[in-house]
Amino acid sequence: MTLPMVVPAPDLPARVRIHEVGARDGLQNEKATVPTAVKAEFIRRLADAGLTTIEATSFVHPKWVPQLADAEELFPLVSDLPARLPVLVPNGRGLDRALALGARQVAVFASATESFAKANLNRTLDESLGVFEPVVRRAKDEGAHVRGYVSMCFGDPWEGAVPLHQVVRVCGALLDMGCDELSLGDTIGVATPGHVLELLASLNEQRVPTNVLGVHFHDTYGQALANTLAALQHGVTTVDASAGGLGGCPFARSATGNLATEDLVWMLQGLGIETGVDLAALVATSTWMAERLGRPSPSRTVRALSHKDAQAAQPPQEK
Ligand code: HMG
Ligand code: MG
Repeated sequence: MTLPMVVPAPDLPARVRIHEVGARDGLQNEKATVPTAVKAEFIRRLADAGLTTIEATSFVHPKWVPQLADAEELFPLVSDLPARLPVLVPNGRGLDRALALGARQVAVFASATESFAKANLNRTLDESLGVFEPVVRRAKDEGAHVRGYVSMCFGDPWEGAVPLHQVVRVCGALLDMGCDELSLGDTIGVATPGHVLELLASLNEQRVPTNVLGVHFHDTYGQALANTLAALQHGVTTVDASAGGLGGCPFARSATGNLATEDLVWMLQGLGIETGVDLAALVATSTWMAERLGRPSPSRTVRALSHKDAQAAQPPQEK
């Protein structure tokens, strides 16, 4: 398989941890129900491809996200994998369900804006933080690792530009509750690299260290990879991505897929940055999943590499 030429660039981390969200963020927006067995095989294949953090599902209300209503059936099918398998929990009920199945990594998901807190969680921003506080405390008491998502860090479909101080406030609140790491969500994909650097610097100024920060870019405007590079230059080493570029958010209509994991891995390999991911196995997984979903992957790398593979498999044409 074609691989990029390795040419390191200065001041970048030696290793990046990819937080794979294809099975959760990627699938949550799919209209047709994906069978539980297909989801389980998807997650197994992602682990086989070398991904070590694979967000598996959400313990949210099944009426709100019907695609993930099978969380109870799915989680035990994959819980033997050596990968970390974080799951989303919106409240105490979600945490009960996750802990009952032995989940060791959970994520609460806050918003930097009032409008998305209401659309996504049916609560005001402060009410949602009030719900998360005992969830985070209990999860920590149970020995779980807790991620805190912050959505709409760069723009909001109802409110437009999001002031930095709103993002900083929500990040601080989640860390004060005891979250181990944060993920800065560009839910509708409007961020650009300067904005990313400005937010990271503002967070550092307010004593939020870079080593607790991950980035979560959706690729609506084609900026996700550029934004990721900016974050890496700032020292971020946790990057969220979705195999094949699957995704969207059912509660923010302008959200499209996440940064495709393959596009990320291609860039990181070219920069000589370790990820532990086997790109050929990952492309094969996303091609397999695209066949299950009945449409091609939007990832440029998946398309380029699966096209080359198909060409290589053709017998030479007679002249
Ligand atoms: P609500 O309707 O306000 O719930 O929804 P409630 O607290 O009023 O409870 C109503 C009923 O739901 C009760 O049952 C509860 O027990 C039940 P009843 O007593 O009437 O029989 N219930 C539950 N059942 C199962 N599991 C639960 C649960 N919670 C309550 N966890 C709620 C509030 C938070 C539940 C709802 O709004 C919800 O599930 N929202 C989830 C939205 C979601 O999943 N969004 C997508 C993920 S976020 C995202 O994609 C962004 C991200 O990728 C980052 C980025 O890109 O920015 C992370
Ligand atoms: Mg997302």
